[in-house]
Amino acid sequence: MKRILPLSLIAIACGAAQAGELEVLHWWTSGGEAKAAAALKASMQAKGHTWKDFAVAGGGGDAAMTVLKSRVVSGNAPAAAQIKGPSLQEWAQEGVLANLDGVAKAEKWDALLPKVVSDVMKYKGSYIAVPVNVHRVNWLWANPAAFSKAGAKVPATWDEFFVAAEALKKAGITPIAHGGQNWQDFTTFEAVALGVGGADFYKKALVQLDPASVSSPTMEKVLTTFKRVKGYTDKNSPGRDWNLATAMVIKGEAGMQIMGDWAKGEFLAAGKVPGKDFVCVAAPGTAKAYTFNVDSFAMFKLKNDANTKAQNDLAAAIMGPEFQEVFNLNKGSIPVRLGMKMDKFDDCAKLSSKDFVDDAKSGTLVPSIAHGMAVPSATEGAIKDVVSQFWNDDKMDAKAAMSKLAAAAKTK
Ligand code: GAL
Repeated sequence: MKRILPLSLIAIACGAAQAGELEVLHWWTSGGEAKAAAALKASMQAKGHTWKDFAVAGGGGDAAMTVLKSRVVSGNAPAAAQIKGPSLQEWAQEGVLANLDGVAKAEKWDALLPKVVSDVMKYKGSYIAVPVNVHRVNWLWANPAAFSKAGAKVPATWDEFFVAAEALKKAGITPIAHGGQNWQDFTTFEAVALGVGGADFYKKALVQLDPASVSSPTMEKVLTTFKRVKGYTDKNSPGRDWNLATAMVIKGEAGMQIMGDWAKGEFLAAGKVPGKDFVCVAAPGTAKAYTFNVDSFAMFKLKNDANTKAQNDLAAAIMGPEFQEVFNLNKGSIPVRLGMKMDKFDDCAKLSSKDFVDDAKSGTLVPSIAHGMAVPSATEGAIKDVVSQFWNDDKMDAKAAMSKLAAAAKTK
């Protein structure tokens, strides 16, 4: 009779005497996100480590970041946390992040990452975070059945968008599924800014926060167009979570959603087929530009050797080709590791992968502000608040919003 070994003994037999505990903070709680996170957990458990899940619900991660701050301030940091963009530098300045150069050198991260990504993962030349993926944010998701019921065409420009939205409305379908939370408002706003103003305007006004561009006729047009979109959302949109908005498109209750490609993770988790049950096109007017959002994990300094070893295993696994494939297939994003085969990926991911390279070359690859890629967190918070105030307050006109935006852009 075969004896079944308890898991702990198997771990020891496999040489995992150094098994550690990994507490990992993230905000991946929706259907597609949770499936992707489960892949990471499984790869750590396979190495004998214990995974302590520290999931804080709330799309965009605002709630997770608040919880993280209070944990670190009380001297009880998790082993790893989902932290992105310029916030990585802010955390590194606090002196609380672990140096990942050992694993980065051994695994050749410098050669495996686009420079635009590796620069963000480093503080004073040393790796302090490991990137997971590349999400494209400027997507429009559409339900073809809803469009054919309305006799409408999936829009490529903002003019076409409003024509399609009218037709969907007449057919009794909510034209645009929206969740009124400030990161979702800003996800729509930055798509409009890119589509109406173009990549150069986007960079000047929203990344460099150049005062003349923030207060310009183009910005006024962006704000007016953005506000017009609101007229095609439903009355239950305030406060709605993004994945519930995606569910409206999945069910055909709504025709479209403007959202990053984590939305694709929801369609796929619901068994929907890209190109048939749903389509992905660049957000109106943005086919020749790419708004990127790179998820990454930073590790906090720990005293326990086994747990530090577990952190290094986590970092190595995240950049490994197996994980990059399985995680991104579920998450809706594309691998951040260069040279990966894309044959298992769908057409949305293949387009994203091609456009990422093309837009990097043509200077139209831009960071997402809504997703913490571009400006310091305090500035980001201030400009997001203005955009949401404008969206919610029907008495505020574009000129008033613009002068508030100009003031908010000076927040340091
Ligand atoms: C983004 C994050 C994505 C996705 C989304 C919704 O900020 O980068 O991975 O999870 O929020 O939660």
